[in-house]
Amino acid sequence: PDLDGKVAVVTGGASGIGKGIATRLAAEGARVIIADIQRDAMEATAAEIGALGVLTDVSDAQSVADLARAAVEAFGTVHVVCNNAGIGPLAPVADLTLDDWRWMLGVNLWGVIHGVHAFLPILKANREGGHIVNTASMAGLVAGPRLGAYAAAKYGVVGLTEVLAAELAADGSRVGASVLCPGTVRTSIGTSSRNRPADLPDAGFKDVDIELEDNPRYRWIYPDEAGSVVVRAIKRGDLYALTHPDWYPMVAERHAAIAAAFREQAAEAGFDAGLDAGVDA
Ligand code: NAI
Repeated sequence: PDLDGKVAVVTGGASGIGKGIATRLAAEGARVIIADIQRDAMEATAAEIGALGVLTDVSDAQSVADLARAAVEAFGTVHVVCNNAGIGPLAPVADLTLDDWRWMLGVNLWGVIHGVHAFLPILKANREGGHIVNTASMAGLVAGPRLGAYAAAKYGVVGLTEVLAAELAADGSRVGASVLCPGTVRTSIGTSSRNRPADLPDAGFKDVDIELEDNPRYRWIYPDEAGSVVVRAIKRGDLYALTHPDWYPMVAERHAAIAAAFREQAAEAGFDAGLDAGVDA
């Protein structure tokens, strides 16, 4: 669909990937609302790209409901919602406190749930149709060390969006859904604890600037590129929006491990695992 004049809400739009998405949507002519918990950055970005800023905590259902009401009050309806706000501190599972889990799942999973819950009825009621883009991660498709809490949230976002997209398609809805699974993007995610809530103080998490870890498997891109991937996904209706299609070998390793388990346990039980019947191992 043409994005010119459409109304788009981007959570976490003050910084990083959200700012990249908001910038690309504005360049398409969309009327953009950025929702963020960090007021100073939000006001600066809103002024820079000509967006409306709405102070929002995505982990709070009421705050997201208020955001949806503010968007409809400002522009009459909403066409595009990007549930993108997120945090990325890291720790081995054994080091995670319950406050870490609550913060991570509160923002990275419940934040998306709140966005879908508050905006889906508005998008469905929009005669011009709509689109939901949920930001997961490559860590929603394959995970590694220190990503336990993050991956628990991001696998959830992938699963939620896969089911939502299938249900909308089965209904013949004019609303579509995409899940953005970025690889490494140069953002402020390495200082996520700047937004840690005071009521969840017990921290095993550490802010990590993984760019300094210099992993040769990583390819770093800028947020604008992620924004362009999102615009393309909305226009084409892609379910999986990928910034790093070159990273498939990492996902394939996980798929191969799952396929091997099916093959072995099916053979033990005397079943045909069906792995050679067209399912890619
Ligand atoms: P960022 O730190 O630059 O931007 C995140 C934004 O979300 C900030 O403006 C922050 O203030 C806001 N935010 C944090 N908690 C919030 C809350 N409770 N309510 C509302 N806003 C809140 O980081 P980045 O990298 O742009 O992160 C955006 C999304 O992209 C996240 O969901 C992250 O998990 C995901 N992602 C990032 C990758 C990367 O390499 N940077 C890779 C894959 C996914």
